[in-house]
Amino acid sequence: MITMDIQFEIKGGDFNQAGKASSKIKNRLKQLDIDPSIIKRVVVAAYEAELNVVAHAYHGIMTALFEPDFITVTITDSGPGIENIEQAMQAGFSTASGKVREMGFGAGMGLPNIKKNTDELKIESKVGEGTTLFFKIYY
Ligand SMILES: Nc1ncnc2c1ncn2[C@@H]1O[C@H](COP(=O)(O)OP(=O)(O)OP(=O)(O)O)[C@@H](O)[C@H]1O
Ligand SMILES: [Mg+2]
Repeated sequence: MITMDIQFEIKGGDFNQAGKASSKIKNRLKQLDIDPSIIKRVVVAAYEAELNVVAHAYHGIMTALFEPDFITVTITDSGPGIENIEQAMQAGFSTASGKVREMGFGAGMGLPNIKKNTDELKIESKVGEGTTLFFKIYY
């Protein structure tokens, strides 16, 4: 398999477009004939990370790198950043606005779900600047 990467833009606040980048990754993994149980884990993690940009940040770029034995996904956003990453990782912790909760998000389960579904996870954030989330999943 040839190493390849694809990149998508994510617009903060745009719930109509939310999930588009993740579904493109899903299609590519299907084309590559990756095991469905692996595809599911990648899509859950990518979707939650994408939704976090839509719900909490202003603008983001998602980059998926398809390697022979694994995929890495990096989502870099400009946004408010995360003050306390350890706290944000706790199941149930959420700062989602009332509007975001009305849309059915804000259970505080996205980051724990990403953790559960990935083989490697790194989050870096600067308050007032933005957040970068990186994960890796082996095929
Ligand atoms: N990209 C981001 N930019 C700024 N804050 C973020 C970002 N991602 C997560 N957070 C912070 O971490 C908290 C927890 O995120 P998590 O995805 O676990 O829950 P949620 O997005 O609030 O709800 P859910 O994912 O269940 O809809 C968020 O409420 C927010 O405070
Ligand atoms: Mg979330």
